[in-house]
Amino acid sequence: MNTSFIVLGGGIIGLACALELRLRGAAVTVLEAETCGGQASGAAAGMLAPYSENPESPDEFFRLCRESLDLYPNWQQRIRELSGIDFEYTESGSLYAAYHEADLLALESRLRWQRQHGSSGELLRGAALVSAEPGLSRQVVAALRTPEERHVYAPDLVGALIAACLNAGVLIREQLGKLELAAWERGVEVRAAGDSGEAVFQADQLVICTGAWAGHLPSELGLELPVHPIRGQICAYPWDTRQAGTEPVRHMIFSSQGYLVQKANGTLVCGASEDVAGFDTSVTERGIARLLRWNRSVLPALEDRQPIHRWAGLRPATLDGRPLIGRLSRAERVILAAGHYRNGILLAPATAKLVADLAQGREAEPWQQAFRPERFHRQTVHRP
Ligand code: GLY
Repeated sequence: MNTSFIVLGGGIIGLACALELRLRGAAVTVLEAETCGGQASGAAAGMLAPYSENPESPDEFFRLCRESLDLYPNWQQRIRELSGIDFEYTESGSLYAAYHEADLLALESRLRWQRQHGSSGELLRGAALVSAEPGLSRQVVAALRTPEERHVYAPDLVGALIAACLNAGVLIREQLGKLELAAWERGVEVRAAGDSGEAVFQADQLVICTGAWAGHLPSELGLELPVHPIRGQICAYPWDTRQAGTEPVRHMIFSSQGYLVQKANGTLVCGASEDVAGFDTSVTERGIARLLRWNRSVLPALEDRQPIHRWAGLRPATLDGRPLIGRLSRAERVILAAGHYRNGILLAPATAKLVADLAQGREAEPWQQAFRPERFHRQTVHRP
């Protein structure tokens, strides 16, 4: 591809798009106002769980998540080869726990449609459940096991993607401060006005991947894009399975209240609250206390433990819960890829593929129109 791109935003989506564009032959520069992976990507629990995170129906969003899961084995392999960095790609499978007999009907109907869409899931009860996950509370009456679900260690995946991008020839500029879109009609120009002075970047095309901040820049384009931050508070317990008395948690464990994921670095990551706090990433006693109560109802062994880390990230949410991926009809040099809400880590490969396809002039498929960025459109037209 004989085209140059600026990718705005060095989170997992921006880095994945940059790498894919570069591997298809484009010249790519990533511009990041602060630090790559410093927001939602680095804060994520790293779950690749389209079935557990989207339990309602096999809609377009589920299809994108499912296709991205299918891309993951080759995608992560390529990143490991390009970067030489491991990020704990773990094929653990998951359990979705039910606490009441009344919840079983819902689990059974979910299992029926998910089996038609690539899951080899099964409903576990009694001795089968205890043997699958011995540490699980006996309050859990049944669980839906989905062997296809996996996880990665998100901060290391971001590190690997940065290294893969650099090794493939992507330029990455961080700590740029406020970024402004100065031109987008005959060519793209982005101006940075950080502490280290002004800098101007030019390219043929622009990909906006600024996560929860995605609503800001396109307003310069005369577009209102309703992306807003939803805070997720998360904590990690020490859970070193080499120590006597600490049994490995074999699966990712979900319920309607949260999730638990065993990491190879000897921690058990537990998330996550959902609250509206603007761009505030502090943790609150209330948010973490709710998680701790739920955690103990899943794994009684947590009664005697306290988390060693607590943090929060801002999920980029849209009005319909679906990401915004597509070329802007009002600014044809601009492609948007943002608003991935709870599924940015999972959706990175499918988003990068779709963005690179659009960049090469291919049309989105009819079902992918569900992610058209201008679907909520109220617009006024500004000219540079
Ligand atoms: N995907 C998990 C979360 O957003 O908390």
